[in-house]
Amino acid sequence: MNPNRDAILARLAGSSSPVSGDALANELGLSRAGIWKHIQTMRKQGIEIESHAGRGYQLKSDVLSPAMLRRQLDDTLIGSECMVFDEIDSTNREAMRQAEAGADEGLVIIANRQTSGRGRLGRSWHTAEHDSLALSMLLRPDIAPEKVPQLSLLAAVALHKALSKFAPGISLKWPNDIMHNGAKIAGILTEMRGEPGQVHAVVIGIGVNIRRPAKGWPEEITQRVSDLSTASGRDLSRLDTALAIIRAMETGYREYLTDGFAPIRRAWWQAHAASGHRVRAHDSKGYVEGIAEALDDDGALLLRVDGQLQRFIAGDIELMDMN
Ligand code: BTN
Repeated sequence: MNPNRDAILARLAGSSSPVSGDALANELGLSRAGIWKHIQTMRKQGIEIESHAGRGYQLKSDVLSPAMLRRQLDDTLIGSECMVFDEIDSTNREAMRQAEAGADEGLVIIANRQTSGRGRLGRSWHTAEHDSLALSMLLRPDIAPEKVPQLSLLAAVALHKALSKFAPGISLKWPNDIMHNGAKIAGILTEMRGEPGQVHAVVIGIGVNIRRPAKGWPEEITQRVSDLSTASGRDLSRLDTALAIIRAMETGYREYLTDGFAPIRRAWWQAHAASGHRVRAHDSKGYVEGIAEALDDDGALLLRVDGQLQRFIAGDIELMDMN
């Protein structure tokens, strides 16, 4: 995006009341006519900016830009560089391409639309334009490749913490789904590039349904889905949600690098709705039922099935006795 338009949007997004053309022009070192032209261009791009006679401009659309994010993030590692794309295949793929081109740890990629958004277990992920948040972050931790699943659980704890601020009634479901009343509102896809013994890049991709799209969810989504605004009872913005996630990830990642996985495992177990409960665990071969007894260092769920502990590595679970 043009840097002046990005700066105008960031200034408007940071104010709950209209901002005058004079104030924008003075603060950004542009002429009033220049501001007006940029506002017109953005309106043509579909960004809704209201004019209030004698008071100025007010942003109405739920847009995101690098300057909006950077303006509200202090010296965080995560989000030290932010890129926002109008359309991209997948923010995870873009983050990996940037990683291969040498991008630094902390890069955050956001897109308004993903043409091939990806979910766990080879599924696709639908990003509703301007109603969903698709965000990927690049990490380059100095850890063994086997420990990368721990980062996925760290992200689940951070996401749960961040979204709970808006919607305290949400829950976490193994391995890293965020649920509300049995319907999914957010998920995480973690991917890695490396070689034996060495991690080069980890991309943590987070998808959040911010609000129900005006035309509803596409029919091909077979899972029960809901959204954060419904769960919280008010219309939330992608910007506030992204900022909350980045800040929670920053805290969690720093703690992980100093204190290791143990505190994260404890926090995950506490947040996990099915801890100690009866679940049905599905994988490609079928399903088993048992009591969710623990989470191990690899992120596997340990199920007590007919008196024996079984490790469950990949799949989905269903809660059986939560009513
Ligand atoms: C899941 O299946 O629950 C994981 C969904 C992860 C979706 C996000 S959206 C941002 C990032 N880019 C992708 O292509 N996938 C992840």
